[in-house]
Amino acid sequence: MKNIAIEVKHIETRFPNAVIHKDVSFTIYEGEIYGLLGGSGSGKTTLFRHMLMLTRPSRGTIKILGKDILSMNETDAYILRTQYGVCFQGGALFTSMTVFQNIAVILKEYTDLNEAQIAPIVYAKLKMVGLDPDTGGKYPSELSGGMVKRVALARALVMDPKLLFLDEPTSGLDPVSAEAFDNLILTIRRLLGLTIVIITHDIDTIFNALDRMVVLADGVAAAEGTLDEVLMNKHKFIREFFGSNRSLSRLNIGEAKGHGNKG
Ligand SMILES: Nc1ncnc2c1ncn2[C@@H]1O[C@H](COP(=O)(O)OP(=O)(O)OP(=O)(O)O)[C@@H](O)[C@H]1O
Ligand SMILES: [Mg+2]
Repeated sequence: MKNIAIEVKHIETRFPNAVIHKDVSFTIYEGEIYGLLGGSGSGKTTLFRHMLMLTRPSRGTIKILGKDILSMNETDAYILRTQYGVCFQGGALFTSMTVFQNIAVILKEYTDLNEAQIAPIVYAKLKMVGLDPDTGGKYPSELSGGMVKRVALARALVMDPKLLFLDEPTSGLDPVSAEAFDNLILTIRRLLGLTIVIITHDIDTIFNALDRMVVLADGVAAAEGTLDEVLMNKHKFIREFFGSNRSLSRLNIGEAKGHGNKG
């Protein structure tokens, strides 16, 4: 029996002008790479922000690593946050800081480690995401888009999190860099065994990296499960999304080869 990492039940989110989530429920198991899918504005980032304890839903429960995050005290919330690694939509590095400083800042905030103790950790994380040590001295403006994403990932991993949250990690990358990033995520899961939650529109990521996924549409979880299970669903959004040319060509290749190269 697999352990549950995140359990979202009956979430409702109302903003003054709109109801974004009417009744959203899904379950993420430990060690999974789990996708949050849905159209623009379907409430994926809003759901992320709830799970990250940055905002609260109007109704419902969210249990993370066994704790009800909506009723927990500040101390428990602080401890849980140290077990989170997060890459926000767009990557968001501090432009006035070097790569080294961008990663070290998390350790300075959450630990009592001194500079001499922090440096080897930062360089180990850079290596883990496939970047040279000298990248540490560069500023974000000197990096390619793919390198920025890798630095953001190194920063998210710096506290050895149990849960990694990635909001559209491959958006804006060329297909080759995006595939390399997907492979990196698979490698990191294999090496570290953590649970990874990814918001994505990227059809390649969906086919290559995700174990299971939830599709948000009309304020509910329109489908949840493996790719094969989701593809059986006849919801309009799912048919349109997976009916695109790129997706269909993947499905055709998949039928010939048995799709996906997870593992
Ligand atoms: N604080 C807020 N107050 C009012 N409306 C909000 C707030 N935050 C988000 N929304 C609205 O909620 C809806 C869902 O936004 P959200 O950012 O979660 O969508 P998304 O699924 O992540 O979309 P995208 O794929 O474009 O990133 C949007 O219509 C947005 O305008
Ligand atoms: Mg979003």
